[in-house]
Amino acid sequence: MADVEFIKSQLTAHPDFPKKGIVFLDIFPILRNPIAFETLITHFIHHITSHTIAAAPSKKIDVVVGLDARGFLLGPIIALRLGAAFVPVRKQGKLPGQCVSASYEKEYGTDSFEMQADAIKPGQTVIVVDDLIATGGSATAAGELIAKQGGKTLEYLFIIELMFLKGGSKLDAPVYSIVQSD
Ligand code: ADE
Repeated sequence: MADVEFIKSQLTAHPDFPKKGIVFLDIFPILRNPIAFETLITHFIHHITSHTIAAAPSKKIDVVVGLDARGFLLGPIIALRLGAAFVPVRKQGKLPGQCVSASYEKEYGTDSFEMQADAIKPGQTVIVVDDLIATGGSATAAGELIAKQGGKTLEYLFIIELMFLKGGSKLDAPVYSIVQSD
């Protein structure tokens, strides 16, 4: 998996950011390098088409949900390549119109997520995209918002999975991560 090693090589670690004890893994160097960014997106699309869509009863993905904030950098590109809708999940108070909301705990604090109430139609197939899964709190909240609207989450996709936090174990669908970090 030369592409995985290449993507991994672009990541940088920042000890004690944003507070003491957190080793922050930064994905922005990938986005600064167009070849790395293309490799990342192509890797996700290959996985989604050969595994996620192949295993889906409907053989299609209707909606890509991206999580605030770095999921917004990946989700729309993946959605366009799949011919799917992009739907943002945002921190509370940012989205206009009627919203559904769910609160969650994260690695450093608590927050509340919202999605526009008409964004997903009952029965639609959904994948969730973000840069990193830590405790899984934000992905769990996103899954709740999708379920509240009758959507069917097929998979949660991340560049990085912090394995020691076991965030993937509490989600209602499988996790796919490119880089697993201890
Ligand atoms: N979000 C939560 N934990 C993180 C970490 N360790 N690095 C980057 N983003 C994060």
